[in-house]
Amino acid sequence: MHAENVLTPADLIWPLFVTEGRGVEEPIASLPGVSRWSLDKIVERGREARDAGIPCIALFPNTQPDRRTEDGREALNPDNLMCQAIRALKDAVPEVGVLTDVALDPYTSHGHDGLVDAAGYVKNDATADVLIGQALTQADAGADIVAPSDMMDGRIGLIRSALEEAGHHNVQIMSYAAKYASAFYGPFRDAVGSRGLLKGDKKTYQMDHANAEEALREVALDLDEGADTVMVKPGLPYLDIVRRVKERFEVPVFAYQVSGEYAMIEASVAAGAGDRDALVLETLMAFKRAGCSGVLTYHALHAARVLAR
Ligand code: PBG
Repeated sequence: MHAENVLTPADLIWPLFVTEGRGVEEPIASLPGVSRWSLDKIVERGREARDAGIPCIALFPNTQPDRRTEDGREALNPDNLMCQAIRALKDAVPEVGVLTDVALDPYTSHGHDGLVDAAGYVKNDATADVLIGQALTQADAGADIVAPSDMMDGRIGLIRSALEEAGHHNVQIMSYAAKYASAFYGPFRDAVGSRGLLKGDKKTYQMDHANAEEALREVALDLDEGADTVMVKPGLPYLDIVRRVKERFEVPVFAYQVSGEYAMIEASVAAGAGDRDALVLETLMAFKRAGCSGVLTYHALHAARVLAR
């Protein structure tokens, strides 16, 4: 009766990896228990999400290697894997929200989130121009929320204007506003097939983990440009950032319990060091306590089922 916070399936966003083919499930070794799914299987996951009370799915494509290019142009193809998955989900389970990642890393041959210059430096403004097209392509396919995860400056305002002009007034923007250059993204890069391709690191556009005030400046910019909600990423090691953002801005804040965090919990369970259900529920409640409106987590379906028991 005195509990200050509650955790329900409605707090969860479930990230899913999409791959080509039919009837395909490809387990991801560094992310035990998580697979890439072909479109038909993604739709099955969508039904599971609906039945478990999970309101939203986040999609990430594992683009075929021959479609990855220097300029990531496959991101603009209205029939790319991402758009096919959006349409399949919106056809089959329209009541489940679809959140799409806006960034070029699943489409580039160098694994960066944007266009690179001759020295390998990611170009801010040229990248933002492509991201506008990517966000529009996803909105046209039926995305409910576009989520720019690229960390270019100025892209939220550009994407918002383009969405308005195209009549997508109700498409929301969840900005990955405070996204750190993190060692916790490794398994994700395996899942989307960019780990082996990535040249260098992402420290010229993602944030330094020594900084907290910079996160507040990043959030202020994105809100000013029209973000509906903001995200902090990774999650658990950055709960101080979640709390500060929530106190300063009083907007819906989400956190991403990222792939490396998921892998840590699973490794702990495999080593007999902890109980999965208890670890999952405790970490997810910690996000609520810190001020999150919701959490992106690979444990979403599991957590929702445990909560329903
Ligand atoms: C790419 C993107 C990343 C994640 C979400 N979108 C990886 C990166 O920035 O390299 C990481 C998610 C995770 O680790 O679970 N723009």
